[in-house]
Amino acid sequence: MRLETEALGVRFQNPFFLAAGTCGFGLELAEVLDIEALGGFVTKSVTLEPRVGNAPPRVAEFKGGMLNSIGLANPGLERTKREKLPWIRDNICRPRVLVSIAGHTVVEFFTLVEGLDSEDGFLGFEINLSCPNDAERTGEPFALNPSAVAEIISGCRIRTERPIVAKLAPNDPDLSRTVQVATEEGANALTLVNTLPRALLDISNGVPELGAGGGGISGPALRPSGLRAVREARGATHLPLFGAGGVMTATTAVEYARAGASLVQMGTASFAWPRAITEAIAGLVQWGQEQRISAWDDLVSRPPGANAPANRLDLFDPIESSREG
Ligand SMILES: Cc1cc2nc3c(=O)[nH]c(=O)nc-3n(C[C@H](O)[C@H](O)[C@H](O)COP(=O)(O)O)c2cc1C
Repeated sequence: MRLETEALGVRFQNPFFLAAGTCGFGLELAEVLDIEALGGFVTKSVTLEPRVGNAPPRVAEFKGGMLNSIGLANPGLERTKREKLPWIRDNICRPRVLVSIAGHTVVEFFTLVEGLDSEDGFLGFEINLSCPNDAERTGEPFALNPSAVAEIISGCRIRTERPIVAKLAPNDPDLSRTVQVATEEGANALTLVNTLPRALLDISNGVPELGAGGGGISGPALRPSGLRAVREARGATHLPLFGAGGVMTATTAVEYARAGASLVQMGTASFAWPRAITEAIAGLVQWGQEQRISAWDDLVSRPPGANAPANRLDLFDPIESSREG
């Protein structure tokens, strides 16, 4: 099965990315994982100033996945330029890298793009419009406010020629509209979804398990939200989509392809098992052989009206026949 796919003006060797905030800046995982095997990765979201993040505990596990309130702990713009991007430039060959940025204000996004754009070694920006952990400082996530989305995407667009990917929220009541706004203002792709704001409590005293109170759900419990968002977005834009939320295995990635994502991002799975992503890549090749599917691209649902090379797959449903539960 051919895993290559094209988007953002480049060819990706396979559709698997590690998601923002789950692989640092790449070097953190280099010892435990063959990074060169990945389609790409998204860096931790970078803010203008360094951030230490929220009060501990910042992660809690539950049966359906995990809840985190990391709070965008990151080295900030200057240290990212000085210490993180040079490593990526010198060490990453085949995977494509997106640098994630997060502003507390609209103008901070622009300063981040301007500050990073002249650096080498990365393909483009993922604009984190949807961090639920940051809502304390900024009010609601920008992703839930279409005029803020328009302002941020259009302002980033005029400041860089690199691809920009808008990362949206799973709890957007009018996602189609947000998707259209991001498309019209010049985003080159979308990532759906970020974590979903929720809470877990200690039953002995009712105190939240996370130091920050609430946090964002990720992992298997997020998958239906991610799939729904990707399906909805697929109907509202022609842009390539990154599917994220509970991508744990090859077949969960295929499920996202069927929803309309031509690339996927994995986060929580790699906390449980750092090599989950390389195993999923190998698993996809094997699954494709078993199902007699020759190319990943054939699995990807196209936007309405687009030429769909996947028509022949309508003859059977490989997901149903091999669903992992
Ligand atoms: C510990 C942790 C930190 C994260 N940090 C970021 C971040 O800095 N920026 C961002 O856009 N998303 C961040 N995310 C969200 C992930 O990129 C991803 O959208 C989400 O976890 C869903 O994928 P998953 O279910 O495979 O984990 C974080 C997720 C986790 C679990």
